Amino acid sequence: MVEEPSPSGKRVEAGPPVRAMNLREVKISPGVRFSTGLGEFDRVLGGGAFKGSMILVGGEPGIGKSTLMLQSAMNMASAGISVLYAAGEESPEQVAHRARRIGDPPDGLVLLPATEMERITGELSTGAYQVLVVDSIQTMHSSSVTSAPGSVSQVRQSAAELSAASRPGGVTVFVIGHVTKEGAIAGPKVLEHLVDAVISFEGDSFHQYRLLRASKNRFGSTSELGVFEMDSSGLSEVPDASGYFLGNQGEPVPGSAVAAVMEGTRPFLVEIQALTSATSYGFPQRRATGIEPGRLAMLLAVLERRCGLELGNQDVYVNATGGFTVSDPGADLAVCMAVASSRLGRPVVPGTAFSGEVGLAGEIRPVPGMERRSSEAVNLGFTRIARARGKRNSAGGEIEDEFATLSAAMAGLLADKGGKWLS
Ligand code: TYD
Ligand code: MG
Repeated sequence: MVEEPSPSGKRVEAGPPVRAMNLREVKISPGVRFSTGLGEFDRVLGGGAFKGSMILVGGEPGIGKSTLMLQSAMNMASAGISVLYAAGEESPEQVAHRARRIGDPPDGLVLLPATEMERITGELSTGAYQVLVVDSIQTMHSSSVTSAPGSVSQVRQSAAELSAASRPGGVTVFVIGHVTKEGAIAGPKVLEHLVDAVISFEGDSFHQYRLLRASKNRFGSTSELGVFEMDSSGLSEVPDASGYFLGNQGEPVPGSAVAAVMEGTRPFLVEIQALTSATSYGFPQRRATGIEPGRLAMLLAVLERRCGLELGNQDVYVNATGGFTVSDPGADLAVCMAVASSRLGRPVVPGTAFSGEVGLAGEIRPVPGMERRSSEAVNLGFTRIARARGKRNSAGGEIEDEFATLSAAMAGLLADKGGKWLS
């Protein structure tokens, strides 16, 4: 009988017939972890990569996935792990050029310029490799499917073949996949159920760092954040992003507040800037970039009526920096604080991130995902997160500062005119 690949592309188990068993009987093998050669990468995976696992590394084109994996591959090879790097996107010269920027390529790192699945699985079957890097899954092609590389069926079939070929020898596979900003492309999405971990590589909203995080991890949590910096010699790890991040913010100026927002299940820190200036003619202007104008109008009304902030004779400009469009009401508090800060000429207490919805009565309302927002803020070095009253969580417990009303947050978290912090 010829075994057909299952329609979902899932691994088809061969071997002894399965039987129903008591869950208590199932033996748990501890598994073997090894270092990816990058401490931040290890941390995101939950303490290194599991031998024999399949890990998807996704991210926008140009973000640095190839650099990350090449750097990791070079470090693994230096540590005596044999690595096969299957390059489908770039010529050997281009890969070598990138490698030279990073350092001297070690022995034990083998490059295979190929896009045909058969050549890669064939090379793997020599049994000479412990790790395989596939750069990228969108360029790979299996002859058992007729559609073009990058199509859903190709991506799925190639991944299934990689999975099958890597299992006998317990080879660990890192698969690079491109994701566009719009997100929902065929590529990595169709692989997520197939792999053991989905790691995404992103730019941060301050354009300073590259962030590595897991959105799926069979072997660990998904709350760790890896932080890197990209320079002319590749990526360098930023094991202590705290302090460093805040140190680079410069002198506190009025009109800026950082919002901890969620985009789907992903936390982000976005700086909100506001500028108020006396209207010189006609109606006061209200301009919002990256924030819904209707929401801004509502928040300005709350600031006027509930907090006594005079804005009727002021032009107000509000901007979410980094080209972000913020739709999460959790950004309300930061927007209000930025406007109040500018209007009063009093900077926000440094190291503070804000997360809370502002209601019409001037109250601060809790927002979902507080734990993720807090842990993101902690990971990036914020020392305080201002939030609504409510249930506390483990992630940011100590740095969370609760406020019932916008007035209370303004009283507690804006510096006085002399630049001294009130609290
Ligand atoms: P790359 O790893 O090719 O991105 P991806 O594989 O995700 O498409 O790298 C992206 C950018 O990084 C590229 O424009 C050049 C830059 N870069 C550096 O700044 N320093 C370096 O040492 C390297 C290798 C690349
Ligand atoms: Mg690349």
